[in-house]
This record gives sequence, structure tokens and C-alpha cells, in this order.
Amino acid sequence: MGERVKLELDGEIAVATLNRPEKLNALDTKTRMELAEVIEGIEEVARVLIITGSGKAFAAGADINELLQRDAIKAFEATKLGTDLFSRIEELEIPVIAAVNGYTLGGGCELAMACDIRIASEKAKFGQPEINLAIIPGAGGTQRLPRLVGLGMAKKLVLTGEIIDAQTALRIGLVEEVVEHERLMERAKEVAAKIIEKSPLAVKVAKKALNASINMPLKEGLRYEASLFALLFSSEDAKEGMRAFLEKRKPEFRGR
Ligand code: HXC
Repeated sequence: MGERVKLELDGEIAVATLNRPEKLNALDTKTRMELAEVIEGIEEVARVLIITGSGKAFAAGADINELLQRDAIKAFEATKLGTDLFSRIEELEIPVIAAVNGYTLGGGCELAMACDIRIASEKAKFGQPEINLAIIPGAGGTQRLPRLVGLGMAKKLVLTGEIIDAQTALRIGLVEEVVEHERLMERAKEVAAKIIEKSPLAVKVAKKALNASINMPLKEGLRYEASLFALLFSSEDAKEGMRAFLEKRKPEFRGR
């Protein structure tokens, strides 16, 4: 694997660490390409992916040196690649947990928002500071942020470029949990382990149904949910889950 993103496997948990700490893990082209390589095929080797950063940042955004070199056409192509990469992460069939260890700004915040669950260290800081550079978020910041925190709060963050701490991020719904810095990976792995106990089929289908809630009108989403719900009744895991409950024992899921 390359040097900008480290991939480690801990049983069925994959941990991808953004590893350019001297530049606060700024997401340059190389880092984004390596991240794309890491997620390619990850579903075959892991049941949960955790993304984190080394050093004092999760990621401090797109690489501003690269941004300065871009004209409009290059900027459009590059941001589309970033947006597509983050959408692929969002659509991975396995859950993705962002273990947010520090500065999470601009494209870094957009990456965290493309993950399914965000667990933050008390030292984490969040923001969409693009407005300070006279640009705007370009990889989901104006789209995923209002869906998570509401339109008014998203406008406040994007228009002021204000940087918020982890407790504020928790209060507005940008992260799901805040933990002591030293416990961050342990807690992310605990949450991953809890998910791994479940039927992989049900986890995959639940994520699909939940993602549909932001992409589909309610009526269609409800119909989609009903179809996926019914589909799971053809699985051995569903029978096993219900039988195990009635027989007062732990279920043994096989993913079929
Ligand atoms: C390139 C960056 C960088 C970035 C930090 N660095 N962020 N380089 N792009 N986004 C570099 C610094 O230049 C410096 O390099 C080194 O990392 C350490 O950073 P410092 O600024 O010295 O650290 P500190 O004083 O602790 O300040 C931390 C910080 C600040 C508040 C996070 O670095 C900062 O404001 N960074 C920029 C954040 C930002 O504007 N992000 C949005 C980018 S636009 P040297 O060589 O001097 O040691 C964006 C658009 C997304 O993300 C578009 C879609 C992909």
C-alpha cells in the first residue's frame, strides 16, 4: 500500500489512516487516489471500515497548494473526482466509521460526513472554512451538511467559516459521539464490533434503506424499505435471529 493512506486489518475491521501528518493530512490528489485504492475491494476483506487520521488532524481539507494551480475546468474535474470518491465511500456495502481525531476542515469534514457514523475525540475541530479562500465547499459540504445539521446551522458554518469544537459538533448532530482522545480508536472498534455481531446481510440492507432516506421522496423510500424488509425474510439469518430469540440463545449468523 502507498504511503499517504495506511491500511491495517484487525480481524474483520479495516482501519484506513490518512498519513500525511506534516501537512495535517491535506487531501491532495495522491492521498485521494490512495484512498480510492484502499476502498476498492475492501468489502471482500472487512465487515467495517474505520477512517482516521495520523497526528493532530483527521484532514485539514483539500490541498490548498493544488487548489491554487487550478483553472475552472481542472477544478470541476478534480472536485467531481472527490465527490465521486466520497459517494463511493457512502455507498460501500459495509459500514464506515469516521474516528475523528483532530482538525476536520473543508474536504476533511466532507469526507467525515460521507461516512456512516462519526465518533470524535474531544480534541476534534470541525468547519467548512472554504469561504475564507473565496471558494465554497466542493465535495458535499453544501449538500450533506444541511442534511445532518439542518439548513440554518449549515448556512451559519459555511457562510462564516467558523470552526467548532467536538461538543458543539455533537450538539448540532454533526457527530454521533465524543470520547476522550485516548479512547477514540478503542471506542470506534467497539462500535464496529457491535455491528459485526449482526447479520452482514441485514447490516448491508439497513444501510441501503437508510441511504435511500436522503435520496428518495418519502413515498418511494417507504416502498423501497418495504421491499428490502420483505427480501430479508428469504434469508437463513432472519430465521436464525428469530429462532435464537425464542430459544433464548445467541444467534449464529452466516450472511445468507
Ligand atoms: C495544504 C495545508 C493545509 C491545506 C494545513 N496545511 N492545511 N497545506 N492544504 N488544507 C499545512 C500548512 O501549510 C503547514 O505546512 C502544515 O500543514 C501545518 O499547518 P499549520 O497551519 O502550520 O498548523 P496550525 O497553525 O496548527 O493550524 C492548523 C489549521 C490551519 C487551523 C488547521 O492549518 C488551516 O487553517 N488550514 C487550512 C484549512 C482550510 O482552509 N481547509 C479548507 C481547504 S479548501 P508548512 O509547510 O508551513 O509546515 C477545501 C475545498 C474542498 O477543502 C474541495 C473538495 C475536495
